Amino acid sequence: MTGAELDAAEKWSVDELRAHQLQRLQETVAAAYKNVPHYRNALDSSGVHPGDIRDLADVRLLPFTGKADLRDNYPFGMFAVPRSQVVRVHASSGTTGLPTVVGYTQQDIDTWADLVARSLRAAGVRPGDVCHVAYGYGLFTGGLGAHYGAERLGCTVIPMSGGQTAKQVQLLRDFGARAIMVTPSYFLSILDEMTTQGIDPRELPLQVGVFGAEPWTDAMRSEIEQRAGIDAVDIYGLSEVMGPGVAMECAATKDGPTIWEDHFLPEIVDPVTGEPVADGEEGELVFTALTKQAMPVLRYRTRDLTRLLPGTARPAFRRMAKITGRSDDLMIIRGVNVFPTQIEELALGYDGLSPYFQCVLTRPGRLDELTVNVEAAEGFTSDQWAQVEADLARDIKDRIGTSAKVTVLPVGGIERSVGKARRIVDNRPQ
Ligand code: DLL
Repeated sequence: MTGAELDAAEKWSVDELRAHQLQRLQETVAAAYKNVPHYRNALDSSGVHPGDIRDLADVRLLPFTGKADLRDNYPFGMFAVPRSQVVRVHASSGTTGLPTVVGYTQQDIDTWADLVARSLRAAGVRPGDVCHVAYGYGLFTGGLGAHYGAERLGCTVIPMSGGQTAKQVQLLRDFGARAIMVTPSYFLSILDEMTTQGIDPRELPLQVGVFGAEPWTDAMRSEIEQRAGIDAVDIYGLSEVMGPGVAMECAATKDGPTIWEDHFLPEIVDPVTGEPVADGEEGELVFTALTKQAMPVLRYRTRDLTRLLPGTARPAFRRMAKITGRSDDLMIIRGVNVFPTQIEELALGYDGLSPYFQCVLTRPGRLDELTVNVEAAEGFTSDQWAQVEADLARDIKDRIGTSAKVTVLPVGGIERSVGKARRIVDNRPQ
């Protein structure tokens, strides 16, 4: 394989894709019903039998699955195979209570590696490239998911994990990585460290950044591409459905992640009512995994808000628009809906501001208030801050429709994360 070839499935027509999806959906529902007590009970109480799935639209007959279902069946109750056939477990920490646990058979691990390899190829990574993985290794799916996929593609993989920023820079330079896989926010810290060390990122061999695990905007893409001289593309995924590589943006088009629909059937539903919305309209992304053995998931509510778009680089496969945010990250300030990504987009329009920011929520009286803390760019002197504070606050009012207080902080004033950035600090009384 030269590395430029597509998988057979990537060349399927829409009809071929739909036929495979239906067959896989029927098999998955049958296996979940037979082997997972939770699904048997859930289907029985909805009055649905696996035999009722006669075409793809019948997916809507199935009950939703949510994080709470995984927690209720902690740790291994959602597995559809004997525990001895589960070769790997990942888990998400979860800020409250029990972690959510996911399991994989050897075949699941292979499928995952294939899909991440396919994703990397779509990103413009090639066999033989040095691929530096700075997603965290461990229970988080980012590091190991990226790792197995990059190996599968035939890369030389550097399993750096997150943290040790000075060392990240040293190895990127000394090992000559052509590709990096990392959260966009941590990549910014790596770029800053390069500046500190007097290294111009544009002079390194680095050419491709495969960024995901958190929302990021096209404004952030331009900032990163310009500073680092690379192509920045978006990889999407979530542990419950697999991990990274559920969807991948193609470097040729950079128009939002292509969903690998041969393995994951997407729907968009109204986040409140759960009713389906039409392709092209925004709502909550829901996935049914079509080929997972160890832990099938039917209609998993991701809480991620986006739209389904027609295929471009892979015509039969629908794309998703860049994620606007998670419904958990929606801030409602005096009736106006605001996502951190909207703030990011506006803040990046100011030369004097860095891409580091946080939205702080307080409730001094009866109403919620939003303060946007944003760090000054290097060399942007404090005598100019008041003007930018006023300008950005006015922009937020005009373009998003909410009042916010903007505070510029000195360089280093916003906490750094080596993985997913914390964009919202909620200081409201509980
Ligand atoms: O973040 C898997 C992953 C690792 C994806 C590395 C990409 C790269 P979780 O920790 O389970 O899994 O978090 C999943 O992260 O529901 C989204 O809210 C968010 N997310 C992941 N990728 C993107 C992205 C991994 N490209 C949750 N854009 C998801 C926006 C993303 N949000």
